[in-house]
Amino acid sequence: MARRKKIYEGKAKILYEGPEPGTIVQYFKDDATAFNAEKKAVIEGKGVLNNRLSEFFMTGLGQIGVPNHFIKRLNMREQLVRSVEIIPLEIIVRNYAAGTMSKRLGIEEGTQLPRPIVEYCYKDDSLGDPLVTEEHIAAFGWASQQDMDDILSLALRVNDFLSGVMMAVGIRLVDFKIEVGRVFDGDFQRLIVADEISPDSCRLWDIETGQKLDKDVFRRDLGDLKDAYTEVAKRLGVMPKTAAPITKPTLIN
Ligand code: TYD
Repeated sequence: MARRKKIYEGKAKILYEGPEPGTIVQYFKDDATAFNAEKKAVIEGKGVLNNRLSEFFMTGLGQIGVPNHFIKRLNMREQLVRSVEIIPLEIIVRNYAAGTMSKRLGIEEGTQLPRPIVEYCYKDDSLGDPLVTEEHIAAFGWASQQDMDDILSLALRVNDFLSGVMMAVGIRLVDFKIEVGRVFDGDFQRLIVADEISPDSCRLWDIETGQKLDKDVFRRDLGDLKDAYTEVAKRLGVMPKTAAPITKPTLIN
């Protein structure tokens, strides 16, 4: 059997060279990390759920014309995606205060923001992904002004889509992070949504109860992360039939 070339291994995913030029195989691991990998665990089945959920969100975005890297799912843990030149920014959109914004500005978690707020963090684990302004981004050449206009537009379109999809299944989209990459089509280049969209990179709260259904369950020791992600997948109708069985009878209804 031919050995695949590993391009990159991150905290939650491994990227392998794809079958065609310009493609990559994205493998979702079961590893969960928080606080810049100071806290670690293996959550069996998380990779399977995130593979499905990211497929669901990226496919939906594609259907409303938001360009993204997803090509097709290959198996339980892998999807084929377009290879991109990643912009070194974590693009965060917030609808309600939580996490670092609450801490930084002293706003109680759950406070609705006057409008969606977009923030940028420089993608560098050794620095802890520091918050940066558009001044830094322009001065250090991480993205051009045109790129920033495109990034803002992509981020807000993803926010509208995800907020609506989540609202329809009784979940509040508090905030999320996307990454964006550059692709080249002949003489043209454009930016597309890349990486993943999953409960690892969103804050999702049940609208009725406020129950957290995202990675904060792991970060803050609030229960079983897999149960939370399974609940999201189940509500969205993307529960895999052959994997990630529901283990807790309380979730069956
Ligand atoms: P934020 O509140 O800034 O940080 P933390 O999650 O450490 O409290 O995060 C805002 C949202 O963006 C949250 O849903 C998690 C997501 N996010 C990531 O997935 N990866 C990242 O590197 C960062 C900075 C944020």
